[in-house]
Amino acid sequence: MDRIRIHGGARLTGEIPISGAKNAALPLMAACLLTDAPLVLSNVPWLADVRFMGDILHGLGVDVSHARNTEPGESGRVALRAANLTGAAADYDIVRKMRASFVILGPLLARLGHARISMPGGCAIGARPVDFHLKAMEALGATISLEEGYVIATAPAGGLKGGRIDLPFPSVGATENALMAAATAKGETVIVNAAMEPEIDDVGRCLIAMGAKISGLGTATITVSGVDRLHGAEHSVLPDRIETGTFAMAVAIAGGEVELTGTHRDLIGTVATLLESVGTTVTQTNRGIAVQRNGVRPVAVDVTTAPFPGFPTDLQAQFMALMATADGTSHIKETIFENRFMHVPELARMGADIHVDGDVARVTGVARLRGAPVMATDLRASVSLVLAGLSAEGETTVNRVYHLDRGFERLEEKLSRAGANIERLSA
Ligand code: UD1
Repeated sequence: MDRIRIHGGARLTGEIPISGAKNAALPLMAACLLTDAPLVLSNVPWLADVRFMGDILHGLGVDVSHARNTEPGESGRVALRAANLTGAAADYDIVRKMRASFVILGPLLARLGHARISMPGGCAIGARPVDFHLKAMEALGATISLEEGYVIATAPAGGLKGGRIDLPFPSVGATENALMAAATAKGETVIVNAAMEPEIDDVGRCLIAMGAKISGLGTATITVSGVDRLHGAEHSVLPDRIETGTFAMAVAIAGGEVELTGTHRDLIGTVATLLESVGTTVTQTNRGIAVQRNGVRPVAVDVTTAPFPGFPTDLQAQFMALMATADGTSHIKETIFENRFMHVPELARMGADIHVDGDVARVTGVARLRGAPVMATDLRASVSLVLAGLSAEGETTVNRVYHLDRGFERLEEKLSRAGANIERLSA
């Protein structure tokens, strides 16, 4: 199994290109199921999860052709055509490996009138149920039953019908499933308490390019007027705001000055403001964002994760790595997932002073972390250990990097080009 080795202490300089957003690319790929015409996506990141979604769609009868990028910063492309669907099922092995695959439920139900998808089960960061997704499908007239761990969903005889979907929490995945299912439902659908994450906007914009009628994107109330059919489209995936925030924090941790290209400050507004109060400057440039921290030690600041536009849970572990060497004590509260502090014992092995009490981690910054062999069981936790290694004294080895490969494109290459002393060791 590959490992990543980092010698801490190097400042970061130069530029880092930001890839397309994984969390938009996955539902966008699923949107191809809604039409028999081609859907061509550009700025697609070359990631294990994207390839896996391609395999799932291929298994349903979709023609998938993936042109990967060969350089960081180059755009990857995926062309998808669901002309003849041959399946409407996803097995436990698929959904267990990648929970985001559950987002094929809405499009399959809309296109074929039925779907059989395994329940995802728990995952490393919590129970993560799918009840909101299922209630949303029921609000559109679907009948749902659970059989032997599978969700069996069936649309009414004439297809899904528009309806009012009240989400108890602004779930990202449930909003995406609802949007896609409602696009071709008969009549109007109103999604209340919809998630406002930029990836939802991106999916909505692609559906509009495919002929859907959607208003209210970016707000908590989205209205969809069902159309008879969708057509093909070309769409460029928006920049990855989690990758953007991660590299901004890398600069805050290691010090230096880096331009993150192909992204926007607006995508990380709350995060940028927070990083500024820590002592980092984050400025919009013509090509992206300039991030700078010179000299001064980061200052401890409290944060609470929240749905967009709040501070993203997907950056909580990285922020904790930053606070681990900040001047003072910070409190980091996790409100989205119940078990998302798995990076704490690993950061502690590097000398971090962190105490967890329920959903709050109290982090007292130390002057410098010490390199150590570490590993993590999820994507964002893994990258937080890489970031911690950037400023730690000596050598840090991060094991089980397949988690990183699921969500970060060429992480070590991008950091190494910006001056970090980092390399991948193949097993
Ligand atoms: C998406 C992101 C993930 C991010 C998360 C929160 C993708 C592929 N993944 O995940 O990276 O961390 O948003 O920003 O886009 N919930 C229920 N019932 C449901 C659905 C969700 O109780 O039916 C709960 C979850 O357990 C969790 C919370 O709602 O506590 C938020 O989950 P949700 O927004 O749905 O996250 P995902 O779409 O799974």
